[in-house]
Amino acid sequence: PTILVTDLAGESSPVDVDSGQSLMEALRDNGFDDIEAICGGCCSCASCHVYLKGDWFERLGPRGEDEDMLVSSVDAFRDNSRLSCQIQVTEELEGLQIQIAEQEC
Ligand code: FES
Repeated sequence: PTILVTDLAGESSPVDVDSGQSLMEALRDNGFDDIEAICGGCCSCASCHVYLKGDWFERLGPRGEDEDMLVSSVDAFRDNSRLSCQIQVTEELEGLQIQIAEQEC
């Protein structure tokens, strides 16, 4: 799918990502170094934090329990916060719009 990513500098760019990986991995592979992902995707660092724009938060369903606890503890938390390592890339993500959040660990 092609997704639209807004980085910390406010630049938006369309990015083609492959299915079968996490959104965090796809972002890192595409050079979005704002995503630190210190824990490597095991949902324990909150440094892969993104905001889902538009109605994408509703469309992708609620945060998982661990994810919710972790991400809601950071200062940059918003209602549409997700940890990108907990989102699997599938064709359903076509048109997804995300904004990379300030990472805190
Ligand atoms: Fe650590 Fe997502 S990479 S919580």
